Amino acid sequence: MVFIMSDLFSNSRPEKEEIYPDLFVLANFVKTETLLDEIKIITKASPFRKMMTPNGHKTGVACTNCGDYGWTSDRQGYQYSKEDPLSSKPWLAIPKQFSALAYDAAFFAGFKNFYPDACLINRYLIGTKLGSHQDKNEMDFSQPIVSVSIGLPAIFQIFGNQRSNKILEYKLEDGDVMVWGKSARLVYHGVKALDANRLAPKMSERINLTFRKSH
Ligand code: SIN
Ligand code: FE2
Repeated sequence: MVFIMSDLFSNSRPEKEEIYPDLFVLANFVKTETLLDEIKIITKASPFRKMMTPNGHKTGVACTNCGDYGWTSDRQGYQYSKEDPLSSKPWLAIPKQFSALAYDAAFFAGFKNFYPDACLINRYLIGTKLGSHQDKNEMDFSQPIVSVSIGLPAIFQIFGNQRSNKILEYKLEDGDVMVWGKSARLVYHGVKALDANRLAPKMSERINLTFRKSH
């Protein structure tokens, strides 16, 4: 299966910036309006929800999933599950245009043959942040992470190989895609509390799609 650049993409010659070793930002890589219809369908089947974490607090970010596996959290810990625990039904499949986007972004950043089986969809409202963490519940760390920003801009934080050692902050805008892998695969990262945007006062949220090969 090979995907080709389609109308989905904003840029025929996108920019690629390596902001940290093996971590790339593809600025304005995708026209995000085209993703919103699919997100609506997915969240109708599996609504955004805050998940319970092992420490007994709910996540600030609300999430849902599509794919063969969805990332979930409860008192017992984090895991990938084949079913939405709210409905006990399988998550909806990853839409074709999402897989094409993830494949092409990974390819463009130097990671061939990326076929994600999980797409975590996070929703941040104003004031929501995501603490420093590693993405480490996947089985094969030779596979990259592809992360798509939609809506309000957010400050992405990179902490390197220690949870609390902040190294870099980078502003992610609507349509930016980030890809990381290899030496950066287990990098600690997080998102600063979302700010309202004076230039777009009607915008109230940011959505992030994270594509992973979990199994
Ligand atoms: C994540 O690390 O799971 C999400 C990152 C983001 O929202 O940009
Ligand atoms: Fe993450």
